[in-house]
Amino acid sequence: MNILEVRDLSFSYPDKSILHRLSFNVEKGDFVCVVGTNGTGKSTLLKLILNILQPTEGEIRLFDKRADKFRDYSKIAYVSQKATSFNRDFPATVEEIVSLGLYSAKGFLKPYSASDKEKVKAALERVGIYDYRKSRVGRLSGGQQQRVFIAKALVSSPEIIFLDEPTVGIDITAVDSICCLLGELNKSGITILMVTHDISSILYHSNKVLVLSEDGSGEIMPSEEFNSHTILNHVHHKH
Ligand SMILES: Nc1ncnc2c1ncn2[C@@H]1O[C@H](COP(=O)(O)OP(=O)(O)O)[C@@H](O)[C@H]1O
Ligand SMILES: [Mg+2]
Repeated sequence: MNILEVRDLSFSYPDKSILHRLSFNVEKGDFVCVVGTNGTGKSTLLKLILNILQPTEGEIRLFDKRADKFRDYSKIAYVSQKATSFNRDFPATVEEIVSLGLYSAKGFLKPYSASDKEKVKAALERVGIYDYRKSRVGRLSGGQQQRVFIAKALVSSPEIIFLDEPTVGIDITAVDSICCLLGELNKSGITILMVTHDISSILYHSNKVLVLSEDGSGEIMPSEEFNSHTILNHVHHKH
């Protein structure tokens, strides 16, 4: 089953054309990495999928619904780029941030039930930060903060998680452990689409790579077929 279908997608900002006739599918159980040099439109693609931006041409379907008609928000979760740039004194605890993930499923201003508290606890345990639940999020390391955001994404039991460069600014051992965590979540049945530069750390866990080129086109391939030459080829095409 296709969870995501992108058909002939083109997108331009008022002054700049970004994506050009991009097509690919994401099936249930996939772990897709999105790679491409800076400015190729990776973050823009995620915003289009999430209907934060709308296509100039083409179509995006989530769970067989057009992205602009899709309302089943608890099925999807998004960890945005630089989600983790808290001031040390940011006045929220780990537990509070993760609880925010329930709003997509419940709507705002509904009181938490015992089962909601259970969901938050389960998400905190699943990413290995339960012991930090009362800590201020700004006091944690970058890798731990990223786990907080993954837990927040998990709390509504999504079928697919979109992540935008979740390993930026995190030290290398933490990068590997985040990648392993995402690999485990994927094995447990959650579909993942992740923008990343840490392709070497994640390639072992992913099954497909979507390469975006500077000319706005893109190509999806099995992870085994992907190698660093692919990016170089795409960059050279343009010149
Ligand atoms: N709101 C915007 N208005 C105009 N141009 C933008 C906007 N957001 C991003 N861009 C430009 O679009 C291009 C793609 O941006 P982005 O999707 O963030 O790339 P990536 O995530 O691949 O680095 C970049 O050249 C960026 O400067
Ligand atoms: Mg980006």
